Amino acid sequence: MYSNKVMDHFTHPRNTGEITDADGVGTVGNPTCGDLMTMYIKVKDNRIADIKFKTFGCGAAIATSSMTTELAKGKTIDEAMKISRASVAESLGGLPKVKMHCSNLAADALHAAIEDYKGKLEKNKEAKK
Ligand code: FES
Repeated sequence: MYSNKVMDHFTHPRNTGEITDADGVGTVGNPTCGDLMTMYIKVKDNRIADIKFKTFGCGAAIATSSMTTELAKGKTIDEAMKISRASVAESLGGLPKVKMHCSNLAADALHAAIEDYKGKLEKNKEAKK
């Protein structure tokens, strides 16, 4: 069954919502279960200054989104990129096997938001040339 940590993050999710002027946005979905997750990041001095998520999905997806935002907040971009699918599940005290894909979504959404931020940064550099 679910660990106390999973239940805590599911019933009291941290950092929910949207950042309207986000520096990076990443959305991923799982075609099998139909769950959808979006992460918004605000970056300052190469660190994740703020992060929020919106998850349309199961309890484990909500808990893993919440944990991922806690793991990522305050980290540098490179450190946040190292937050893996496995480390999210581990931080929650494990997940049932059939729910492991939910933690994949959370880590992937974070990485997608960072990639989006990096892409925008590159575009800005190009525009200034
Ligand atoms: Fe699909 Fe949890 S059942 S994300």
